[in-house]
Amino acid sequence: MDGTVLNISGLYAGYGNGNILQGVALEIGQGEIVTIVGRNGVGKSTLMKAIMGVLPVTSGDIAFIGRPITRLSPDQRAAMGIGYVPQGREIFPELTVEENLLMGESINRTKRRTRYDIVYAYFPILGERRRQLAGTLSGGQQQMLAIGRALVGAPRLLLVDEPSVGIQPTIVQEIGEVLERINAEEALTIVLVEQNTRLIARLAHRGYAMDKGRIVAQLTCDQLANQEALVRYLAV
Ligand SMILES: Nc1ncnc2c1ncn2[C@@H]1O[C@H](COP(=O)(O)OP(=O)(O)OP(=O)(O)O)[C@@H](O)[C@H]1O
Ligand SMILES: [Mg+2]
Repeated sequence: MDGTVLNISGLYAGYGNGNILQGVALEIGQGEIVTIVGRNGVGKSTLMKAIMGVLPVTSGDIAFIGRPITRLSPDQRAAMGIGYVPQGREIFPELTVEENLLMGESINRTKRRTRYDIVYAYFPILGERRRQLAGTLSGGQQQMLAIGRALVGAPRLLLVDEPSVGIQPTIVQEIGEVLERINAEEALTIVLVEQNTRLIARLAHRGYAMDKGRIVAQLTCDQLANQEALVRYLAV
């Protein structure tokens, strides 16, 4: 591990009627792609929200590149270099592709130049459709847009929550290829919540399995490539 990007310890968080996260601890190094797997409702998205700061934590600590961020706002975390692609994408359907990307531009750390060109280089279809309303895009293209919006902010850490849901397999492969390239070319660290075993096997360097708000296992690359072993942690 070449420097720790994310360090979480003793994390408890929930929605007012008790904690969902029950003492999560994990560590992610620079340049890693780490998957978080687990059945529906175990708290994967809750963990992503707590890392981004859209959900306040009850107790525990989150450090990003060595700095405590547990009490910072989502905007502050974004400005420090955390990008978030929420489950369900949450793009703005009534805005154009480019206007959606502008939402990410406001938190661009580098400020030097627009990063649309970078997004369009990774996802050419978004460049072709830049003036089109985002709501008219296919599900896969909307997912590309959600990822692109996060990339515009020049993140050092990208949180991606179930990018493959509801998307046809060829587009899932295309998105996987782009995430792989960004990781390789920009050394972008990625936390990937995913249930698609092919995408996990393709991308993840290692993983954590969650159950009932806890990390219950650490998974090696080989274990993640073993569909049968992996399905045990995913099956409902
Ligand atoms: N906004 C909310 N208010 C109250 N409870 C919530 C809220 N969001 C999620 N929960 C509950 O928290 C628990 C964990 O949800 P979470 O979305 O983190 O699961 P998940 O692992 O991401 O599941 P999935 O694979 O279905 O996305 C579930 O019991 C869920 O019902
Ligand atoms: Mg989820």
